[in-house]
Amino acid sequence: MPFSGTLEEAPSITASAFTSALSQAANGVSIVTTTRDDIDAGLTVSSMCSVCAEPALLLVCVNSDNEFCEMAEASGRFAVNILPSSCVDTAMVFAGLVEDARDNRFSSGDWTRLTTGSPILTDALVALDCQLESTQVHGSHRVFFGRVVDVRTTSGEPLIYTDRRFAVVEPRPL
Ligand SMILES: Cc1cc2nc3c(=O)[nH]c(=O)nc-3n(C[C@H](O)[C@H](O)[C@H](O)COP(=O)(O)O)c2cc1C
Repeated sequence: MPFSGTLEEAPSITASAFTSALSQAANGVSIVTTTRDDIDAGLTVSSMCSVCAEPALLLVCVNSDNEFCEMAEASGRFAVNILPSSCVDTAMVFAGLVEDARDNRFSSGDWTRLTTGSPILTDALVALDCQLESTQVHGSHRVFFGRVVDVRTTSGEPLIYTDRRFAVVEPRPL
């Protein structure tokens, strides 16, 4: 039933209703990285999406508690590594879910660098190297807008996250 007051007065749904609903969405999985003073940082994200093509702009939402935020804001650069389905283990490491690798995440996978110097996963399906355009804070998270200054693409199947688990796509011809 439509809310009878002004929409500004309508209560938000609860956080658990929100996360439960959004857990049903299917998203690609990326590792977003940055570098500052020769120190690298990165985390697994499913929040990356494109904003517009001209200028070439994407966004990623990161919890403000993550060290990535301060480092990317200070260095003004970050990279998005879109993962292929073969990189589940690296996704787990960069989500902080592998105890032994917590302090040395970049030992998982082979890494190189493009224009900004941010870490690029050699096996990434697509690597998007970005200059930080702007940030916005919303609740617990910080939205990073990046202008893409370099790109490296390969081909393969992407890694998907849905229903709180990893999945692979089953391609269907159109
Ligand atoms: C599939 C997947 C997607 C995730 N997406 C995000 C995201 O978009 N933003 C975010 O801040 N954290 C996301 N996380 C959680 C972070 O990866 C995790 O909190 C972080 O790596 C923990 O880092 P820390 O151990 O350094 O605190 C995701 C985790 C997984 C497994």
